[in-house]
Amino acid sequence: MSDCKIIQVNTSPAYAVTIAPGLLAGCGPRLRELMSPCHMAVVADSTVAPLYLETVQTSLEEAGFTVSTCVFPAGEANKNFTTLAKILEFLAERRLTRTDCVAALGGGVTGDMAGFAAAVYLRGVRYVQLPTTLLSAVDSSVGGKTAVDLAAGKNLAGAFLQPAAVLCDTDCLSSLPRDVFADGAAEAIKTGVLCDESLFSLFEDGTLTAEPGAVIARCVAYKAGVVERDEKEQGERRLLNLGHTVGHAIEKCSGYAIPHGHAVAAGLAVIARAAEALGWTEESVSKRICACLAQNGLPTAADFSPEALAEAASADKKRSGGDITLVVPRRIGLCELKKMPVSELLPVIRAGLEG
Ligand code: GLY
Repeated sequence: MSDCKIIQVNTSPAYAVTIAPGLLAGCGPRLRELMSPCHMAVVADSTVAPLYLETVQTSLEEAGFTVSTCVFPAGEANKNFTTLAKILEFLAERRLTRTDCVAALGGGVTGDMAGFAAAVYLRGVRYVQLPTTLLSAVDSSVGGKTAVDLAAGKNLAGAFLQPAAVLCDTDCLSSLPRDVFADGAAEAIKTGVLCDESLFSLFEDGTLTAEPGAVIARCVAYKAGVVERDEKEQGERRLLNLGHTVGHAIEKCSGYAIPHGHAVAAGLAVIARAAEALGWTEESVSKRICACLAQNGLPTAADFSPEALAEAASADKKRSGGDITLVVPRRIGLCELKKMPVSELLPVIRAGLEG
């Protein structure tokens, strides 16, 4: 397949991210290359299940897998212990064993939650990621972060567990609603700001002319390298949280009504404006970032007070003791980590909202 891209992620265990059209309909034979026929529990949300579950189930069954399907109500507001417990009870009722496998079919919420279920069920079973959104394709399906949200904040309970494979079917992207595509664009723009000005530029006129599979491959290749060097986020991997400290605070303050990508976009705009106002970054960087986000239908501001955002952000995972590490753009394509006392968050966020 000429438009098939394969990126190897050399973590433990190592796995391949395959990016190509038609992968959902062909997932059974692809997964049979990796594992013997087993019981595959496919987890999907109520939006994705009617679109793709039958296709995936048919392909898996034709390849010899026994398939059980678990559907939960869509939405970040359901990424919690109640839904996780239902998934775990489902796996137990269906008698999945340690030689079986979980498949996360869908976007970031599904991948995070099905992955977390796989990480704790029987103290760990295999899982595969079948991302169907741009956001899960460019970011969340790769790297082994799994989690649910707690009342105190986003992704506060979770585990690192690398998937056995990621099959990213680019056919899913053509039918994504504009807003959902924009969510993924936010993570891709973030990657451009982190490491690749030419990737960022692809989004600057607001009409992505590059083939989405190529954009996904660039984002995944960068992320794979970072994750290989720092699987458990002790250092360099923190860079991938660009825009996320404020972004997660925005999600929390909105009661998870603002989707992740939109919140990250606003978080990226806030930190870019703050970095410029505080003299940490080249002039005009924030203007360029905000224009690019806006061109892609993404927000560059949030309707919450700096106090509310700082309070929500102070519960962030990136905190250690009394300090928090922010990711700060220095220019498009280069960012740095800045550790500061949590008490300095409020003036930074205030500068970012006002700038
Ligand atoms: N989404 C950021 C990471 O995987 O580290």
